[in-house]
Amino acid sequence: MRSTRRALAAVVSAAALLVASACSAGKDDDTTASKVEVFTWWAEGEEKAGLDALVSRFTSACPGQEFSSGTVAGGAGINAKQVLDARLQQNDPPDVFQVHAGAELLDHIDAGQIRDLTAEFSTWGLTGTLPEGLIETITVNGKLWSVPAGVHRANVVWTNDQVLADAGILTAPKNLKEFIGNLAKLRRDGVESPLAMGRDWTQLMLLEAVLISDLGPKRFTGLFTGTTKWESKAVRAAIQDYKLILDYTNTDRDSLDWPEAERLLVDGKAGYQLMGDWVAADLEAGNFSGYDSFAFPGNGKAFQWLADSFVLPTRAANQAGGTCWLQTVASPEGQQEFSAKKGSIPARTDAPTTGFSDYQLEAVEDWRTGTAVPSCAHGSACSQPWQNAANAAIGAFSTSGDAAALQSALAAAAKQFIRQA
Ligand code: GAL
Repeated sequence: MRSTRRALAAVVSAAALLVASACSAGKDDDTTASKVEVFTWWAEGEEKAGLDALVSRFTSACPGQEFSSGTVAGGAGINAKQVLDARLQQNDPPDVFQVHAGAELLDHIDAGQIRDLTAEFSTWGLTGTLPEGLIETITVNGKLWSVPAGVHRANVVWTNDQVLADAGILTAPKNLKEFIGNLAKLRRDGVESPLAMGRDWTQLMLLEAVLISDLGPKRFTGLFTGTTKWESKAVRAAIQDYKLILDYTNTDRDSLDWPEAERLLVDGKAGYQLMGDWVAADLEAGNFSGYDSFAFPGNGKAFQWLADSFVLPTRAANQAGGTCWLQTVASPEGQQEFSAKKGSIPARTDAPTTGFSDYQLEAVEDWRTGTAVPSCAHGSACSQPWQNAANAAIGAFSTSGDAAALQSALAAAAKQFIRQA
């Protein structure tokens, strides 16, 4: 995998959108537009640019409906999810909300908080156009509940080529051992924090990547289905590797979100950052061309995926507006325009790839040919309470360094939250 140096081209095609008529259903005849509150965590940078692209398509496709932002900042929805939870408890849902496709949906479904969208999936042409595996993951109780907007890859390492070259590192490490060797080399060379790191959920991403390397994709996935034991020796060894790598990260990691960790990389204070591939769009938009990327060492062709998706709350005040937002997200044009900005790849296989960077085009290919592995930090592998418990355990470890406590906390979380999807 090699990153592109090219800026994303301007994209908006003039293709006619078929959703307009359906979207105007439910619209009042007066001139006042109905507000549609769309709840996300995309507050800045290319995350917001991706959201803005959806908003402009929605505005033309859904006459009589007006986007209203319900955005709560914080990477991976770390703050937004708490606010959302409180609002759902108080029966005050937004009209649509962002949630990761997969296990993260389970509690919302159980609590009857979101609508079954199975019928809409075929009307909107999603049934035949989403990859089989993705459809399977978002099918719960035989029904489809969320409209995936785009797919990201989590297990990617981003580099500052200059920092690496200064330390004599000119090639990507082939395995975990080489990676750790490079981190040590950077530190010897005066780079205090060779691997840029952020708070809890970003640390969970690192642990997951190490587990994929040490256990392999199949046994890693088994950690979330019950076929691999968190109490095992293999997990214990992986936690030791994780601990070793964490020692090469910035000590203020617990107070940084991913864009601040990315800043350390761009500013030459770190040689590497492990982060999802939304980073590419951000680096490109910031005109930082001195980077490269590769799958986390030892992960091979494992494509650790996550999908941003949107759902319709059962108690949404503006059901017609919310439905029109979902239909916009589901359309091939909406998917292309969103991903061109956001740096994801469209969930629909028939969406155009106009304006995509070289990195994104390679990601499309890797997604098609790689081994799909889910992510707990980004909700495709584990439910929300499980993710919360994993984040708490990893956050505590960042301070204590107690590997045995981390392993037993992760084992306890699995025991408590494992379930059949
Ligand atoms: C993920 C989300 C991505 C990106 C990232 C950082 O959970 O799916 O789209 O926003 O968090 O905030």
